[in-house]
Amino acid sequence: MFPSKTSTKIPYVLQGVLLLFVIAFGVQICFLCLRQLTVPLKPKEISIKGKVEATCDISNIQPEEIRYVHFPRPKTYSREACACTPVGFFVILSMQRSGSGWFETLLNSHPNISSNGEIFHVKTRRSNMSKIQKTLDTVYSLEWISSAAKNECVAAVGLKWMLNQDVMVHHRQIANYFNWKGVSVIFLFRRNLLRRLISVLANSYDRDAKLINGTHKSHVHSREEADLLAQFRPTLSVSNLIPDLTSAERMMADSLEYFKSNRHMILYYEDLLKSPKALLDAQEFLRVPVRKLESRQVKIHTKPLSEQINNWDDVYRTLQGSQYEHFLDSPDYIS
Ligand SMILES: *[C@@H]1O[C@H](CO)[C@@H](O)[C@H](O)[C@H]1NC(C)=O
Ligand SMILES: *[C@@H]1O[C@H](CO)[C@@H](O)[C@H](O)[C@H]1NC(C)=O
Ligand SMILES: *[C@@H]1O[C@H](CO)[C@@H](O)[C@H](O)[C@H]1NC(C)=O
Repeated sequence: MFPSKTSTKIPYVLQGVLLLFVIAFGVQICFLCLRQLTVPLKPKEISIKGKVEATCDISNIQPEEIRYVHFPRPKTYSREACACTPVGFFVILSMQRSGSGWFETLLNSHPNISSNGEIFHVKTRRSNMSKIQKTLDTVYSLEWISSAAKNECVAAVGLKWMLNQDVMVHHRQIANYFNWKGVSVIFLFRRNLLRRLISVLANSYDRDAKLINGTHKSHVHSREEADLLAQFRPTLSVSNLIPDLTSAERMMADSLEYFKSNRHMILYYEDLLKSPKALLDAQEFLRVPVRKLESRQVKIHTKPLSEQINNWDDVYRTLQGSQYEHFLDSPDYIS
């Protein structure tokens, strides 16, 4: 009797151990399965954004800043000693004849800034949003080939983009791209839209007239060349004047609204001319070491408006008493 009792008892114990073992094993497998389901999502996100390279230390960067800090690894060259120098992405949103060409030469005199010019001037680069994204991706991966490229030790890379080059057409997708990619926006506007209009007309006249030795120039490097271009005094259409100023003003306001969720700063051409502080602010915004910036460009129109407009009396009468009256006498030059 006794042996048979124990022989039935042992299997019970064994069965219990076996059951516990199976349960523990099952739980383990489920746990592993869950981990495999959830874990891969995170590294994927990081590698898409290309933000965190395994070897670069980002521990002293504030969490809300991480989005704006990049360590691009270009395919065509190595960033060498600066591989872990963080790079910020920027775009200058502006309008023709608002000083953006001059501003870019100032930025490019900084050893750590590459501003690659008006690359969307070429229509095929902006034929649709996927083309735009591809173009921007190339710039921000430090692979855009231009005279401004500084490669290894760049700390801020960008371009200038005129609002009428489809920025307003695709604004929603572009703002999303900027937010997702961590692109900072510099708006560069001209306060005096009447002076801007004169510059637009003069520049467009010179496209045909080619006043400087038979070549058209939008920007010049000597006072002689500037004076030659400034000799032309455009005649403004008085009936279109107020509508033209209004539509330029509206475009500026709309663009500010469209990109208000993006990290941004607003610069005015007049402030850049008058005070060095505007350039300091821009460098701080781009998070580059602050230094004195230089440009060889020479301002073209430096005379009072009355001497630059052919039909000054008509223009004066049209704007007098309007919301644009202040454009008539605010100089943007240092006399
Ligand atoms: C975008 O434009 C390019 C040509 O510029 C074309 O090859 C491509 O198919 C277009 N993509 C879409 C999605 O329309
Ligand atoms: C700026 O460029 C210089 C020279 O190329 C480099 O030594 C320096 O590390 C760079 N600084 C930053 C903040 O990128
Ligand atoms: C035009 O060309 C001549 C001869 O090449 C040169 O001496 C002169 O400086 C040029 N003028 C301007 C305004 O560039």
